[in-house]
Amino acid sequence: MNALPTRFFATAALFALAGMIWGVQMSATHDHTLAPAHGHLNLLGFVVMAVFGAYYALAPRAAASRIARVHFWLHTAMVIILPFGIARAITGQGEALAQIGSLAAIASMLMFIYVVWRYRAGAGEQIDKAAPLPAE
Ligand code: HEM
Repeated sequence: MNALPTRFFATAALFALAGMIWGVQMSATHDHTLAPAHGHLNLLGFVVMAVFGAYYALAPRAAASRIARVHFWLHTAMVIILPFGIARAITGQGEALAQIGSLAAIASMLMFIYVVWRYRAGAGEQIDKAAPLPAE
């Protein structure tokens, strides 16, 4: 299997671990102020990232593409920026980072839509010519 799905899953697991530790900290301190930031870290960092990883595991041609690698880094950067930005917005330290993170989240999903469309079933012949599947 191409390394990209593993990279998505491994990064998703790390984000999940961080999100869960954050959840335990919120529970222990009875301070749920940053719950929306925790929720976004877990959902975008673990659930969405793992769904992307599953797609790339099922679509090796897509996983071998350059845009898929860019997608991985864009999504990873967004998951670091957005929850931090939400936490800053909630605590009154400004909304700029949350806005940048939100736009990056939309860009990541648009990129995923493009990849799914580009490597859709039936588009194989054109893709074979453009990017032959590398040997396992
Ligand atoms: C060790 C694991 C976890 C702990 C201890 C934990 C703890 C918490 C706590 C204390 C809250 C605040 C609840 C409230 O104020 O009503 C919360 C909210 C939330 N958590 Fe977790 N959580 C954990 C894992 C997860 C995971 C894995 C996900 C998603 C995949 C998740 C998604 C959410 C969401 C969406 C919210 C609501 C955020 C909001 O109110 O805006 N959590 N969690």
